[in-house]
Amino acid sequence: MKGGVGKTTIAVGLAYELSSSFNKDVLLIDMDPQTNATLLIMKEENYREKDRSNKTIADLFRESSGGLIDEQNKIRLSDIITLNPWKIENGKMDLIPSSIRLFEEKRILVAKPYSESYLKKTLEPIQSLSYDYCIIDSPPDFDELVIAALGASDYYIVPIRPDYMSQQGLIILEKKLEEIKEHINCQLLGYVINLIPTTRSSFHKNITKELEIEYKENILTKIKEIQAYSKWPSTHKPLDNKDDRSPFVEIARRVIKEVEK
Ligand SMILES: Nc1ncnc2c1ncn2[C@@H]1O[C@H](COP(=O)(O)OP(=O)(O)OP(=O)(O)O)[C@@H](O)[C@H]1O
Ligand SMILES: [Mg+2]
Repeated sequence: MKGGVGKTTIAVGLAYELSSSFNKDVLLIDMDPQTNATLLIMKEENYREKDRSNKTIADLFRESSGGLIDEQNKIRLSDIITLNPWKIENGKMDLIPSSIRLFEEKRILVAKPYSESYLKKTLEPIQSLSYDYCIIDSPPDFDELVIAALGASDYYIVPIRPDYMSQQGLIILEKKLEEIKEHINCQLLGYVINLIPTTRSSFHKNITKELEIEYKENILTKIKEIQAYSKWPSTHKPLDNKDDRSPFVEIARRVIKEVEK
């Protein structure tokens, strides 16, 4: 949930490996008005075109705030899906792009009474689309968009950076989840320790060890600082190096094992 911990990197990496390595049909939803996942996948001019033609998640929320939910949303959903932008064979990775306009839609929706269940309803029809997996990339704040994403999901994954601030963020997250647990039916799938520094810092090593002791088998994988990841958003293409892809293959394997057991 915290900013810059690797939510977007992991969401895109996981969605890509589920489809390309495990032949699954995947829908990736960018629920963050920062549009990071969208812009990692498509070039800026392609995103602008989607935004101009109202084919983004912000348009789904705009329609639903006008009362068009349930049956009508199913139609809306298929209208706003970008089909297999990376042209994956065997499986596929479709995308619902985000939009900077989602900041505004969120503001309107938050002002509505019962906005929590309202937002949840908006995303519910996604479950009736025939995907094997739907991955939602969330914004950094624990806001209505995150609650909507949790409300529509069966599982959530929490990336953690092995530093003090992230550990504090985790405590806040657990508190917030406790507050809304009556309204959502979404289980923890696991943690990903991300951005482990490659330098020999005993401080980071100790925190990583503490996290491993505390969360044990709930840790899906550990990821070091990898230069290819910081460059990745500017390429708009899948990672091609096998080693760079391996942490996401590992997460995908763990996700399939848990979900399909
Ligand atoms: N393991 C890693 N090694 C190197 N760079 C990484 C790694 N994981 C993420 N990054 C980079 O760190 C930055 C933050 O990652 P990312 O955007 O995935 O985080 P986020 O949690 O989605 O952030 P936000 O809260 O703003 O949405 C990005 O530039 C990303 O490319
Ligand atoms: Mg992000």
